[in-house]
Amino acid sequence: MRLGVLTSGGDCAGLNSVVRAVVRRADGYGFEVLGIHKATHGFLVRPVDAVKLTPAHVSGLVGRGGTVLETTNKGDPFAYPDGHGGTVDRSDVIGAGYHELGLDALVGIGGDGSLAILHRLATQSDWNLVGIPKTIDNDVGHTETSIGFASAVEVATEALDRLDITAASHGRVMVLEVMGRDAGHIALNAGIAGGAHVILIPEIDYDIDKVAAHLTRRHEAGLNHSLVVVAEAVKDPEGDHHLQTLAQGERRYGGVGQQVAEAIARRTDFETRVTVLGHVQRGGSPVANDRVLGSAFGVAAVDLCAQGRFGRMVAWQNRRVVDLPLEEAINSYQAVELDDALVTTARGLGITFGDR
Ligand code: F6P
Repeated sequence: MRLGVLTSGGDCAGLNSVVRAVVRRADGYGFEVLGIHKATHGFLVRPVDAVKLTPAHVSGLVGRGGTVLETTNKGDPFAYPDGHGGTVDRSDVIGAGYHELGLDALVGIGGDGSLAILHRLATQSDWNLVGIPKTIDNDVGHTETSIGFASAVEVATEALDRLDITAASHGRVMVLEVMGRDAGHIALNAGIAGGAHVILIPEIDYDIDKVAAHLTRRHEAGLNHSLVVVAEAVKDPEGDHHLQTLAQGERRYGGVGQQVAEAIARRTDFETRVTVLGHVQRGGSPVANDRVLGSAFGVAAVDLCAQGRFGRMVAWQNRRVVDLPLEEAINSYQAVELDDALVTTARGLGITFGDR
């Protein structure tokens, strides 16, 4: 067999662990692997922008952050920028690129958006596709965790550990804004692990007065500092989302932490400071969990190819890798549920979500 492998969407730690595992497992079967550069953009050019990958090429990659294949979270093939402010459908060219390479199957590593695009391309252009979920946001359905999530949580937790120390020195309230787009998984997990006192996530509406009252009670009880974690997609105290328009016109979340901090300062008089963690949550070496998950997913994806079981996504459930129809996974966005075990844990620890 000749397999293609690509990484698509925002990068995260652990992607290279997957690529390495795909190449090593494929080598065990005697399969050839071609790495496609820059997600589906590699299929747009002629000759297709791909490179042959052997175990020697991926040696030492298990712990390296980023993606050696490069990636993009722009340029939907079905609405590709035409260079004049409009869009054009380039999906046929991309679909044909797979066949020009003579691929028997493609292993696509992506989040919910990328996997949906790859699935559409596969259906339209007759590709054999196996998907592997990656996203620091951890919002892909039917898998308990995705590549990159554990590493992002680790970074946010370390940030809280550091903020706790400086907060204690000055008796301050520290607000940490974390990524996660529309899901609060990073905020929830890091908030618990990093000893936060308030966690604000988009899934739970908060009342800023309740947040301020909670902090005041802590400080009145003799605790001189507090940590507040704010997920980027939380609405500000006035009920608005905070979106920034980037140079290329794209819109991304960012800035709500500042609004929350100012609102707390106004209500409490506590010295308040803000840290926006941003892309450091995506860079750096993957933690051991992501290396293990990446290895397990990569091996399982190639096994699916060898068995001719396509249109599937590998997933992590109950301590093992399973697989399910890609369509099911991309149709089931996974935000934090109100009865999530970790929401219960946080409440049990006395952490407030500002909702009571
Ligand atoms: O989906 C991953 C993610 O890091 C989100 O958490 C964040 O909102 C977004 O991507 C940032 O996108 P970009 O890399 O385009 O700034």
